[in-house]
Amino acid sequence: MKSRIALAAAMLLVSGCAGFAQEADIEAGAAYAEQVCAACHAVLANEQISPLPQAPTFQSVVDTPGMTELALTVWLQSSHPTMPNIIIKPDNLRNVVAYIRSLEKKN
Ligand code: HEC
Repeated sequence: MKSRIALAAAMLLVSGCAGFAQEADIEAGAAYAEQVCAACHAVLANEQISPLPQAPTFQSVVDTPGMTELALTVWLQSSHPTMPNIIIKPDNLRNVVAYIRSLEKKN
């Protein structure tokens, strides 16, 4: 009986970790966004105007239908048109994506 519970718990853990959001740190993502992305993007919830007008605000990014965690992750791993040299480390990527996604709930 005990081992069954352990097994169920282990399976829960595994399925819970399968996603991209695995242990994402939203606060770290916010800090990273402030540091790296805020030069061009409005990164705060409900902020309407980006420093660089061509750069969409993160709020508008997350409000775009279909801009899922996966879509964001893929987008950020392909080249950023105006910033081809932007290379985001996997940890930062996961965190910043989690941060952007978190803006959705604050609406
Ligand atoms: C040098 C300016 C600059 C920096 C720094 C920058 N971006 Fe961008 N970003 C842009 C511009 C300009 C666009 C719009 C270009 C386009 O869509 O072709 C864009 C587009 C995007 C999009 C796509 C939005 C959409 O709806 O397609 C995402 C997501 C994004 N940026 C996230 C980030 C993140 C996360 C960072 C920080 C790690 C970042 N950007 C840093 C300028 C920048």
